[in-house]
Amino acid sequence: MSQASESVRLSPTVGYQRQADIAVLWLDNPPVNGLGDSTRAGIHAGLKLAVEDQGVVGIVIAGTGKVFCGGADIRQFNTPAATARPQLRDIQQWMEASPKPVVAAIHGVALGGGLELALGCHYRVVAHDARLGLPEVNIGLVPGGGGTQRLPRLVGVERALDMIQHGTPVTGKGAVQIGLADAVTEGAGATRDAGEVVALAVEFCRRAAARSSAHPLVAAHEVQGSSIDFEARLAAVSRKSRNASAQRACVLCLKAATQLPFSEGLAFERARFDELVAGAESQSLRHIFFAEREAPKFSDGKGQTLRTIDRVAVLGAGTMGVGITMAFVNAGIPVTLVEREQAALDRGMALIRRNYDVTASKGKLTSAQIEERIARIAPSLEFDALADADLVIEAVFEDMAVKRDIFERLDKVCKPSAILATNTSRLDVDVIAASTRRPGDVIGLHFFSPANVMKLLEVVRGKATGLDVIATCLTMAQRIQKVPVLVGVCEGFVGNRMLTPYWREAGFLLEEGASPQQVDRALTEFGMAMGPLTMADLAGMDINWATRKRLASTRPAHLRYSSVADRICEMGRFGQKTSGGYYRYEPGSRTPVPDPLIDDLIADCAREAGITRRAVSDEEIVERCMLALINEGAHILEEGIAQRASDIDVVYVHGYGFPAWRGGPMFYAETLGLDKVLARIRALRDAHGAHWEPAPLLERLVSGGARTFDRKD
Ligand code: NAI
Repeated sequence: MSQASESVRLSPTVGYQRQADIAVLWLDNPPVNGLGDSTRAGIHAGLKLAVEDQGVVGIVIAGTGKVFCGGADIRQFNTPAATARPQLRDIQQWMEASPKPVVAAIHGVALGGGLELALGCHYRVVAHDARLGLPEVNIGLVPGGGGTQRLPRLVGVERALDMIQHGTPVTGKGAVQIGLADAVTEGAGATRDAGEVVALAVEFCRRAAARSSAHPLVAAHEVQGSSIDFEARLAAVSRKSRNASAQRACVLCLKAATQLPFSEGLAFERARFDELVAGAESQSLRHIFFAEREAPKFSDGKGQTLRTIDRVAVLGAGTMGVGITMAFVNAGIPVTLVEREQAALDRGMALIRRNYDVTASKGKLTSAQIEERIARIAPSLEFDALADADLVIEAVFEDMAVKRDIFERLDKVCKPSAILATNTSRLDVDVIAASTRRPGDVIGLHFFSPANVMKLLEVVRGKATGLDVIATCLTMAQRIQKVPVLVGVCEGFVGNRMLTPYWREAGFLLEEGASPQQVDRALTEFGMAMGPLTMADLAGMDINWATRKRLASTRPAHLRYSSVADRICEMGRFGQKTSGGYYRYEPGSRTPVPDPLIDDLIADCAREAGITRRAVSDEEIVERCMLALINEGAHILEEGIAQRASDIDVVYVHGYGFPAWRGGPMFYAETLGLDKVLARIRALRDAHGAHWEPAPLLERLVSGGARTFDRKD
């Protein structure tokens, strides 16, 4: 490095450094060296300088910090900065026209535009553990910088299609094997910075310059013929997938690569990108992408000292306890699993093993890995086994008396720094906390079933919960691969609370004339993973029945109430677990079968309520169920139960099967137009009564001319 000069700035985010006769362009735009307008301008200036500089024989492009380049600056999409010149394609043209070799030195990641930048270089030198890929499809896009035309020219159409349609990256080592990279570092350990790969790239570049003045252009490669049946690949894209339009566009771009000259292929790709980037699917997926990253932040949590979580204890080895235990041991965190009786503990451990066996049968785990994970679990019947846990998660029956008793005992047994969490889905965390002498250490961690699979974690902040406890749990959640959302205490928190009006409307629509299968079909056609009534059958109708009975005395007498759900429960039908609910189920089957008995029951309820049944349209079903979610979401936001509207979207997308390509209920409301949403809610109030009183926040936002929930106008 003695011959390395100081780096000089070519733009706020790109530096230029001479390493003897090689110019190194350093991307320096934290956190991921995104290709925003200033970075593109800097690279462009650097290329020009290096080409003109007589003392330079070759050019290396590298990234400062942990990565080469994470791609386009997606915050700039649909803004003037995104279309400012030079574009990535201008830079690629410059590189391809350069008489001096241009080498990408890739460590960390080269994703999206980052890989497209590298594909425009003559050569790619990679760190063995770098990740290279084109994941644009995950945010509803095709690669827009020539990726769909250049990648197949290097690695073949089939491999490129797999990488692009599914957004799957390859490692540095893999990249060399498939012809995507020209040289790889040898290292065995984790690469921390660009040092090693840049040294290799500089040497590589110098040799290339000495060898020849003609350097290979990816664009000039032939596309090898392929046997892919593109029509079949198009037809196989599930209409239900979150990014169906983008996936189809990826297939079409690869097809174009096999049929069109390079420049026409680029134009085809660009046209697909422009369509998608302005479309609702990609806007929604980008919204959720940012919403997930925003959700773990909370304003008063900055600077908190996090507590150490090295050992977790889970109380109760039922449905939830088992899933929660697996989520922790999967992340390498040991768990003490405590039950009150041997049979339940054995059942829980057997279920864990069965779940792992299913994963292993799909080839996703080896038996050694399973044993390693199970060995991290210490099953116990002793309450005292909780004493050394840093975090205890209670997942016993949903009964306040039982939970209060448990927390009183936890208070006595657990060490002073322990966090005491409850997985309650609806009970008051403050009341639970009050049964201890340390309510500041008590928090709700509301996992979703199956807890080892579902991404969402509602982190329920009680009145007294310590800021360090909240900050620790939000960080811990990410360690176990969850998407945490901070919520306040209220009946049902965010997700389940919104289900109440959603199910209410579903019940009313049944009485007014829809069948269970029509309600469910209309909402799955809209994009919900499951209809509300199938979901009620899956979750177990008895739980909500108990809640309704608990809250019956607080229900205003003047408001309409559908007794359909109660009447089904009174028949002993609680859903799948009793082989009957809104639907019936053949023994051992999870397939809902329409049941004439329920149709009669619904007709009886309607008659008793004096409702004349009519034909209900699918549009009305979707509108009423969605507006019910949105209006309740607005109440939740106004009460501060959720920090931001986008958090509510994260809850619904990750916990309730809301289609990500619609962005979540609150974002969906914004796409409908908040003024139109309010007008429809008012119309429903006039037609159906006070259940539909618009949330005051919505009224205020609309009268202030706001178009979004989160911007505080
Ligand atoms: P479950 O009935 O499957 O399991 C509860 C387990 O706790 C049983 O194995 C029982 O033996 C054990 N248990 C009871 N008292 C105990 C004690 N004193 N010490 C140790 N173990 C004890 O219940 P599930 O479904 O797992 O629910 C647990 C909690 O999670 C409840 O608060 C529930 O509301 C909540 N929850 C449930 C969800 C679900 O989908 N099932 C979703 C989210 C939260």
